[in-house]
Amino acid sequence: MTTTPFTGGFTPVTEEITAFDLEVTGRIPAELTGRYLRNGPNPLGLDDPTAGHLLTGEGMVHGLRLRDGRAEWYRNRWVRSAAVARRLGEKPRSGPVHAGMDFPPNTHVIGLAGRTFATQEGGARPYELSYELDTIGPCDFGGALPGGYTGHAHLDPVSGELHAIANFWGWDHHQHIVIDPKGVVTQVTNIPVPDGPMVHDFALTERYVVIYDLPVTFSMAHAQKGSPLPVAWNEAHTPRLGLLSRSTGEVRWFEVEPCWVFHTLNAYEDGDEVVVDVVRYPKRFVEGRLDLGGTPTLDRWRVDLRTGRVAQTRLDDRAQEFPRMDERRTGRPYRYGYTTATLDVENVFYPGDTQLEDMPDEAFDNTLIKHDLERGTHETRRMGRKAYVGEPLFIAAGEKEDDGYVFSYVNNADRGAADLVILSAQDFTGEPLATVHLPVRIPLGFHGSWITD
Ligand SMILES: [Fe+2]
Repeated sequence: MTTTPFTGGFTPVTEEITAFDLEVTGRIPAELTGRYLRNGPNPLGLDDPTAGHLLTGEGMVHGLRLRDGRAEWYRNRWVRSAAVARRLGEKPRSGPVHAGMDFPPNTHVIGLAGRTFATQEGGARPYELSYELDTIGPCDFGGALPGGYTGHAHLDPVSGELHAIANFWGWDHHQHIVIDPKGVVTQVTNIPVPDGPMVHDFALTERYVVIYDLPVTFSMAHAQKGSPLPVAWNEAHTPRLGLLSRSTGEVRWFEVEPCWVFHTLNAYEDGDEVVVDVVRYPKRFVEGRLDLGGTPTLDRWRVDLRTGRVAQTRLDDRAQEFPRMDERRTGRPYRYGYTTATLDVENVFYPGDTQLEDMPDEAFDNTLIKHDLERGTHETRRMGRKAYVGEPLFIAAGEKEDDGYVFSYVNNADRGAADLVILSAQDFTGEPLATVHLPVRIPLGFHGSWITD
């Protein structure tokens, strides 16, 4: 009986390694100078409670430095909480932990004001990393961060402000946080919400912060049972979207159908409507489990500011996740999006009674999807069998939307190790521009960033 979801493509690696001058097939575009960092859960021990749920395993950041057409180094490092440091035989880092939430973030890794942070929702603070991914410690931005932060912050490409919605089970509110390009917290606004809802992501437009208030809420019963993710579907919690005015801080709420959303593709204003594109789960998300086959589809909400109603349409009904886009268009009208096909995400998130000896090769599928939302078309790019393809990260190159590259870590089953595949976004199904051959596996994980020097 499988008791951990960390099997197949999610099987953790057990070592930290550093490798230099990696082998490359093709040509890495010479303009790409920086680090591609990706975070994900990599439990230290599969018997630990944190290994009981995919969302709670200790974070490990994988980093690849590119320069002048070369892949200079690869490193993977656990994010050191005090407990991780102790288990690795190191001195714990000191730092301002929030409410005892000394948890090594596993969700995202971002660059901010020349610094690097691993991030997660639910009360943990960002953990600052060095350029070479060593943990400096939890960060409260000079005492300005009242609580924890979020896995998914969004940068306004015009103002340069980094927006976030933080949540914590012990709060009766969510918290909207703005950090300026210098890394200074400039705004903190509390938004009262009942029941302690789980929040994974939000959306940003030019005038609004779009808050997802969905019926997955903190459960004391599950916390007392020691559930690693103490949340439950809550029929009594009204599902709604909040539009928080970026100028006044006031929130207007709009009811939606019951559902769960991890991720935003993008959002923008269109006359008297606010358009919000998300990957949406139609079914209940119970105790952090995606139960019984709810397919995550690419859906569009249109929030009508005149009538107060929300219309919902489907952009693509195939199972998919990890939406990314050209982030120079965040909050603005846009045309292209990228996702990963995920046929078997329920089993991936919680094996339940299904015995998963190995990840089925369609899990997280081996396919990336490029969406043209203007034309309503898409292109699919299949990788090999057991490719376990991860999040497709778009990296801008030229002026035009879609002029750039798509990065994804792809498991190379023949080598038993990962490749970084670099695609031309405009030649999505063509030969990769470059494939960087890493010396080790990279387990399936969550989100990443391209951070230029
Ligand atoms: Fe996420």
